[in-house]
Amino acid sequence: MTAVGIDAMEIWTGKLKLDLAETFAAEKGEDPEKYTKGLGLFASSFPDAHEDIVTMGANAAHRLMERKGLTPADIGRIDVATESAFDNSKPVSTYIAGCLEQVYEEDFHHANKGERKFACIAGTQSLDDAYNWIRAGRNRGRSALVVATDTALYARGDPGEATQGAGAVAMLVTEDPDLVELSTEQGYGSADETDFLKPNQQFPSVDGKRSMQVYLARMREALEDFESVAGDTHPDDFAFIPYHTPFPGMVRKAGLLGYRHMIRCTEVEDELADEIGRQPREEEFDDREAYEEAIRGYMDDLKSTDQYREWYAEVVEPTLSISREVGNWYTGSVHIARAAALQYAAEEDRDVTGDRLLVGSYGSGAQAEIHAETIQEGWREEVDALNVDEQIRNRYDISFEEYEQVHDRHNHDKSIELAAFTEPDGEFVFAGRGAMDERTYDYVE
Ligand code: CAA
Repeated sequence: MTAVGIDAMEIWTGKLKLDLAETFAAEKGEDPEKYTKGLGLFASSFPDAHEDIVTMGANAAHRLMERKGLTPADIGRIDVATESAFDNSKPVSTYIAGCLEQVYEEDFHHANKGERKFACIAGTQSLDDAYNWIRAGRNRGRSALVVATDTALYARGDPGEATQGAGAVAMLVTEDPDLVELSTEQGYGSADETDFLKPNQQFPSVDGKRSMQVYLARMREALEDFESVAGDTHPDDFAFIPYHTPFPGMVRKAGLLGYRHMIRCTEVEDELADEIGRQPREEEFDDREAYEEAIRGYMDDLKSTDQYREWYAEVVEPTLSISREVGNWYTGSVHIARAAALQYAAEEDRDVTGDRLLVGSYGSGAQAEIHAETIQEGWREEVDALNVDEQIRNRYDISFEEYEQVHDRHNHDKSIELAAFTEPDGEFVFAGRGAMDERTYDYVE
């Protein structure tokens, strides 16, 4: 069977930076370590006054098409994943295609366009749609463009405010990909939950603490489902495990849960038994509460063992380097985690061709999906082409007063004029509103 997967990707960060320790914590009168150590975040990316989900998505897609030498005729579908859409009918992919048509002679009139919504998991679902379309043989030799783009803003004063972020990831899905092949095997953990939602409102209603429990429960369910088709997983099976990363502290919890699950009934559990005992088994307890307390005790001990700490440092920690500088990108978050891991492998000069990733995506509401990916021969060239670190360094560092203006500027209920902090250079910008209140865009040379 021909391999299908991600051939190339490009990342576009919002051009502003809010420093959480220096600027945000200081203003809130909080200990900066709550952010840097507790949540694991140093900064958030924000969209400049001329940026939004369309410009960020179109700019990432444009870079991708230019680098790969593509024209619109090479693209058979454009799927945009977002939970920040501003239109309940016209999909963001049409706006992005409209932007790209300003800079290419051809058009996308024969490309299927859509918009995927299921909170943060929609980016992975769009990859899925592209994969299935190619596997079904309906692509006529063309590739799919998948764009995950979000402005993850929370209401001012919401506990989620510290985890905001803005950016886009564009991915090209093809046969014989250069970056990663996606596994056919997948696992799902899905349930009707009300942990985080936006009932026709821009900023989410969030039950923060519950959302973390739901994330872990669905992720665990998805791993069990994945194992039911792919066989048991073992910590040594995967070079890296990129998770959906609302903030790195969440992944710390998911990593520990995943490790406990994977070592159960293995030689690793046996090796650790002298130090911390064996994992509690439910049948050994009279009630669920006692069992859960014993599990919590075991997890506390497990996270201090050398085996776990070394595994986490090698397999999970490298996935967090971009996220800790940009915050939550919702649909793009798990995809920047993959990119961060591969960048780390390149920096360490590791040859990871043929190695596998276990990718854990999650969307509130709630659903987790787990699949495996195999790193392809062309990975190094693809990763070396990314300029995300440079983009992160070049962001304009906003003061708290500027942050308040930027938040208002992107608040759909306000209409605030604000001069851009950065100079657009070879990119799409928001140009205003048209006769039917549609958003309009220009390309600035
Ligand atoms: N030094 C070191 N650590 C500190 C500290 C300090 N001075 N002060 C606090 N901490 C630690 C806390 O112990 C805590 O860590 P643990 O959970 O490991 O104990 C961490 O910092 C955060 O502190 P709080 O729990 O007090 O923070 P909070 O209540 O203000 O907010 C939150 C945390 C509820 C997650 C909030 O950020 C939030 O609502 N976020 C949005 C929802 C979210 O991201 N949920 C994640 C799962 S849902 C999902 O993944 C979908 C999605 O993208 C939204």
